[in-house]
Amino acid sequence: MSAPEPPGETPAASAARDIARLPPAPAVFQVEVGLLQNFCEILYCPTTREAAVVDPAWEVDRLLREAKTLDVRLSTVLITHTHNDHIEGVAELAAATGAAVVVSPREATAIRRVAPAVGTLVDAVDRRDIAIGDCGVRVLETTGHTAGGVCYLGDGFVVTGDVLFVGGCGRTDFAGGDTAALWRSLQRLAALPEETRVFPGHNYGATATSTIAHELRTNPYLLCQTFEQFRALRERPRR
Ligand SMILES: [Fe+2]
Repeated sequence: MSAPEPPGETPAASAARDIARLPPAPAVFQVEVGLLQNFCEILYCPTTREAAVVDPAWEVDRLLREAKTLDVRLSTVLITHTHNDHIEGVAELAAATGAAVVVSPREATAIRRVAPAVGTLVDAVDRRDIAIGDCGVRVLETTGHTAGGVCYLGDGFVVTGDVLFVGGCGRTDFAGGDTAALWRSLQRLAALPEETRVFPGHNYGATATSTIAHELRTNPYLLCQTFEQFRALRERPRR
């Protein structure tokens, strides 16, 4: 698993490139769905009313209703990773809207399997900007929970899927999991501006959202000083 930055680039230089010339931030509307406390976000351009939905699952009818209430048009689906609880509604939502689906090429096969009728698949490659009307978000490759996991960085916020939770992080004991890669991915997120708001993939924490600053101070996985500490914590026996 390759590190996200080219050889020789310092973490600070990599972080500077992650946030350089970000597109204008879309508005963010968070929706909790299903029995696994999944979060979906509707990201929309306040001017054009174009919108993207992150990880549609479980309650597509509700997501469509929320989009209608917001008066936005869902033209894009953003996938953080292809565990079933994050993609269970892709076929239904894409059929209802004709939305293009943005997914890591490493996990595109899973989308083709559950949603074969999706018209357009867009490769979520590292640092690609995805337009949402006059706004947009940037793909950050953040593997480790899965082999093709990504986060979506906007100006002032980041949608973190199952990589970073409020007070926690994703598991690495599923297929494609890689504790060293997840450590690097978390370091990458930890280097974002501290005021960056965190929108996680599940409502597992004390609050629905957080900030990088708060996670740096309180999240036990970000408080690890070394990879060895992190690995011992992440791979501890589950009860
Ligand atoms: Fe997951």
